[in-house]
Amino acid sequence: MWFLFINLEHPPVWSDNELKAIQSLSLAELKPPPPDPTNLVANSAQAARFGHKLFFDEQLSITGTIACASCHIPTQNFRDLLPKAIAIGEAERRTPSITGGAYSPWQYWDGRKDSQWSQALAPLERPLEHGGNRTFYARYVLDKYKDEYELIFGLGPDLSDIDRFPVHAGPLENLDWNSAWQKMTLQDRDSINRIFVNIGKAIAAYERLILPEPTRFDEYAEALLSGEEITDYSYDEVEGLRLFIGRANCIDCHNGPLLTNNEFHNTGILSSGGEIPDKGRVQGIRELLAEPFNCFSKYSDAPDSCTELSFVRTGPELIGAFKTPSLRTLKPPFMHKGQLATLKDVLKHYNEAPASMIGHNEAKPLNLTLHELTQLERFLMTLETSQASESKWLKAP
Ligand code: HEC
Ligand code: HEC
Repeated sequence: MWFLFINLEHPPVWSDNELKAIQSLSLAELKPPPPDPTNLVANSAQAARFGHKLFFDEQLSITGTIACASCHIPTQNFRDLLPKAIAIGEAERRTPSITGGAYSPWQYWDGRKDSQWSQALAPLERPLEHGGNRTFYARYVLDKYKDEYELIFGLGPDLSDIDRFPVHAGPLENLDWNSAWQKMTLQDRDSINRIFVNIGKAIAAYERLILPEPTRFDEYAEALLSGEEITDYSYDEVEGLRLFIGRANCIDCHNGPLLTNNEFHNTGILSSGGEIPDKGRVQGIRELLAEPFNCFSKYSDAPDSCTELSFVRTGPELIGAFKTPSLRTLKPPFMHKGQLATLKDVLKHYNEAPASMIGHNEAKPLNLTLHELTQLERFLMTLETSQASESKWLKAP
């Protein structure tokens, strides 16, 4: 009791540098998402409304049961609570949140996609996720959403001739669908690809609107920076914040208002039991450069705007490296394969900084005390959204 009293009497003292760091993490500093010139409808309200419907539409899958929202669950910060996602089958990695994704030049844990629209196409065709194929989706969308589609993207082709446009055709794994795809003319394949890409562009227009909500940390930062009286940020939360921006070096990678540098790092997270170590970013770059829907491709609306892709960082330090996640969507389990069950496990991991199974762990042991680790944990918990959002974009349409 005495302690609490003393701490309230002596508000924490922050240095100028610490105050700057706190401000830099505050949500008030978040600028509008960077433009995406590769998607002409990125900022179209009509496209976002259309994308909103597509994101929640279970018919947009071969089984009629899987939507993007089945794994990116709005009430769970657009995640699920599984170590590895499950739809038609089990995915290789954990579902990341899509909140604030428009700020990142790279999508996926290994960054194998360089735009939100290009990313959105992959789950539709993956057998484990939505499991469908290109002609199936093109026909479904032009049929069910004809007016909305044509208002945004113009008249779609007539797909009624099933010899020209088979019911099921697409270039990926399924052999029957692939051979049907190979029999189509290049021009017809291109028409289907355009519709497919437009589905991704509408979904991306919607995803750009999914942004984090202010949390207790932001309220604290705002009060602190404007000199108001602060009542509900505890001593341990304050000291946890001090460690985060100071001795624990978390801010090296978890920086800016989204608490991520959107870069790739090897932090020595072990593989899940019995699996070969995941190569992470080095493999992601290979796939990104071979990607038919990347920024350079003819389906990009600005193939000459690809600064990020042109100067993509490569190097041996990217072996076993994964994208730094935002800390504004924390939910267990943590890390790219859900390897760590609790925040305590995460902090113990950083404190010990074990050698990596593949590549080199960039982080050094922290040698913090148990009490300091608890303080860091308390601080991280103040990044949880405190109030239910009123935004219609966070609900099913
Ligand atoms: C089976 C569950 C599942 C479904 C269905 C699903 N996703 Fe995902 N999503 C994942 C997983 C798992 C990852 C991470 C995979 C990886 O990094 O290798 C991911 C990654 C992403 C990312 C990258 C986020 C980041 O921070 O890098 C975005 C964006 C995304 N999904 C959007 C979508 C959209 C749009 C749809 C619907 C078209 C969709 N997802 C359908 C599980 C799913
Ligand atoms: C060298 C860059 C770097 C530093 C320093 C760093 N992190 Fe991370 N952090 C990452 C990366 C990369 C991941 C994802 C790693 C993975 O999944 O393999 C991550 C994941 C996390 C996660 C899991 C988030 C989720 O959604 O799964 C938490 C929590 C976290 N870091 C907190 C911290 C804290 C607290 C510190 C300081 C003690 C810290 N990080 C220091 C790069 C870093």
